[in-house]
Amino acid sequence: MASKRGRIDTFIAKKLQIPKKSVRSLIANQQLLLNGDMVMSPDTQIDEFSVIECQGLVLQQRQRAYWMLHKPQGVVSATVDEQHQTALDLLKGVDKDLLHIAGRLDLNSTGLLLITNDARWSQALMSPDNKVTKRYLVTLANPIDETYAVAFAKGMWFEYEGITTQAAKLTIVSRHQAIVELNEGKYHQIKRMFGRFNNPVVALHRESIGQIELDNNLQLGEFRALSVDEIDSVKLTF
Ligand code: URA
Repeated sequence: MASKRGRIDTFIAKKLQIPKKSVRSLIANQQLLLNGDMVMSPDTQIDEFSVIECQGLVLQQRQRAYWMLHKPQGVVSATVDEQHQTALDLLKGVDKDLLHIAGRLDLNSTGLLLITNDARWSQALMSPDNKVTKRYLVTLANPIDETYAVAFAKGMWFEYEGITTQAAKLTIVSRHQAIVELNEGKYHQIKRMFGRFNNPVVALHRESIGQIELDNNLQLGEFRALSVDEIDSVKLTF
């Protein structure tokens, strides 16, 4: 989801269904407030979290929201879905306005899912340029060995996207389990990478995204608000 940044005159004209000329009159008559301050110019920039008041009436006031969910299998990483329960369905009692998922997980994957209404924050987290590390615990049908780590570090050619995957770190945990750390997120990336070895993934669990770790106190399907430190660990880039 893109950040909803734009001019205040465009917002007011749309919200109140009035021409921009009338918005200029409101500004001239000192009837428009942005975050408590008088608006002086029609091209003043606003975003989805700006508090906007007109003639004493609040037209927009939204709190930033950041959640972590321990996603269970069978829950779709989407805001709406006809067939399956969605991640948002699990956020019981939460205002869903503008909520979106920062980095999807496949239907049968489990683990850390981040959900927010702050598009600048989610874009900073997911932008390929920022190379935020995602860590997964992967369980495989067949035994694994060090040749996997070499191939993951070297990168694999993905025909469909026309790219070579970035160096990924694979650490063997046991005969059938590995920790995989990726700095990108191509479609079904981990399954496709193990697919090169004809080794099906039987379980895929995301443990962390950047510095945000899945809270061990959260049972499958449970969620909590992010702490200030977790939110601030994501460096905004614009
Ligand atoms: N890679 C996958 O194949 N699936 C996921 O859910 C996440 C990464």
